[in-house]
Amino acid sequence: MPYANPHAVRTPYPENLRQWLSIERAAQSRDWLANWSLLNPLPTPLYALPDLARQLGIAQLWVKDEAQRSALGSFKALGAPIALVRQILARWPDQGLSVPGLFSGEYRHLLKDYTVISATDGNHGRALAAAAQSIGCRCVIVLHAQVSLERELAIAAYDAHIVRIRGHYDQSVAEAARLAATYGWQVIADTSYAGYEQIPCDVMQGYGALVAEVLEQSASQPAQPAFSHVLLQGGVGGLAASVASYLWQFHGPDRPRLMVVEPEQADCLYQSAKAGRAAQASGTVDSLMAGLACGATSPLAWRFLQPSIDCFVTLPDALAAGAMRQLASGSARDIPLVAGESGAAGLAGLSLMCKDGARRKVAHLDAHSRVLLINTEGATSPAVYQQLVGETADSVIQRQQQWRQAPGAPG
Ligand SMILES: Cc1ncc(COP(=O)(O)O)c(C=O)c1O
Repeated sequence: MPYANPHAVRTPYPENLRQWLSIERAAQSRDWLANWSLLNPLPTPLYALPDLARQLGIAQLWVKDEAQRSALGSFKALGAPIALVRQILARWPDQGLSVPGLFSGEYRHLLKDYTVISATDGNHGRALAAAAQSIGCRCVIVLHAQVSLERELAIAAYDAHIVRIRGHYDQSVAEAARLAATYGWQVIADTSYAGYEQIPCDVMQGYGALVAEVLEQSASQPAQPAFSHVLLQGGVGGLAASVASYLWQFHGPDRPRLMVVEPEQADCLYQSAKAGRAAQASGTVDSLMAGLACGATSPLAWRFLQPSIDCFVTLPDALAAGAMRQLASGSARDIPLVAGESGAAGLAGLSLMCKDGARRKVAHLDAHSRVLLINTEGATSPAVYQQLVGETADSVIQRQQQWRQAPGAPG
């Protein structure tokens, strides 16, 4: 059953959280990201899916499509480059470095021996490797046993040196920290741990760009949120914390109801909610939803999630695969979408919550609900995508283009 969080509050955004994540700093990150040629210059689309909304018995369903953020395939492309740039600016304060100059590789001679390292389940590492390549520093990526070869090659394509370990994501995080301490490398991680918070905070701040876009695209006003509910996929909690903090700061006590969705076997945020503190997952952690297969909550993220997330939901892998197919199929009024295993988890969670009266009640979902989902990734593992959807991502994109050109398609 979903867990209704007794610690969720509806107050103005607290000052102690604003010191870490703020709309002002998110705006600066967004401006900086505009200098990176690997990101598409336009905001990612926000699509209405009216047929799916009707099937689910809600008023409106919207999807922010981060699959279209860049060739890197996920929203993670917003986080790592910001943390890397902030690190470099802080480390060489007297060199007069400019952000556009960094992203265009103007300082590669200065940075050629600077090495950054991170663990990843795929998307963060790919984004870090790509940012390091553009900027001109060295990058080492630590992968755990379950990361597919396909994901490894996608990271190595950006010149990163790959280290493989046995074990899970959390062990790869520890190995990255060990290698960094041994060789004097800089960890640029998307999760926090004791004594390591500022960099994951910078990563989370980068994700704020997508929330700024959604608020503009939906013409949301502080006291009139366009959405009544927002579902957020949970890995270590960074994405959810970033989006929750932005919406909380913007809407104050009128913020939408926020729900976190995780794999059943990698339920660290759900367990944290129950324990009332950052906790570990109760299961095996491995999941088809590779980006969400994390066993340990980011303590920094938890500071934001505990007071802001209204409801925590866990999901079996099979539901994510079903949601991928549902989004890929589209309909007369719903555009077909390429959503990877973790990207589709928001829809899977929503479908589960809409299934019966008891769940709908816990989530306060009804015929008036206006729900926002974030498709956090496209087909970041194309072979897995094809196997699960029964169609290639390219073929879905072709149908997407045909759908747009069909007579009567929404503009
Ligand atoms: C596609 C995708 N969605 C969601 C997440 C969850 O983000 P976080 O680990 O910050 O909670 C990840 C994490 O890697 C991801 O790759």
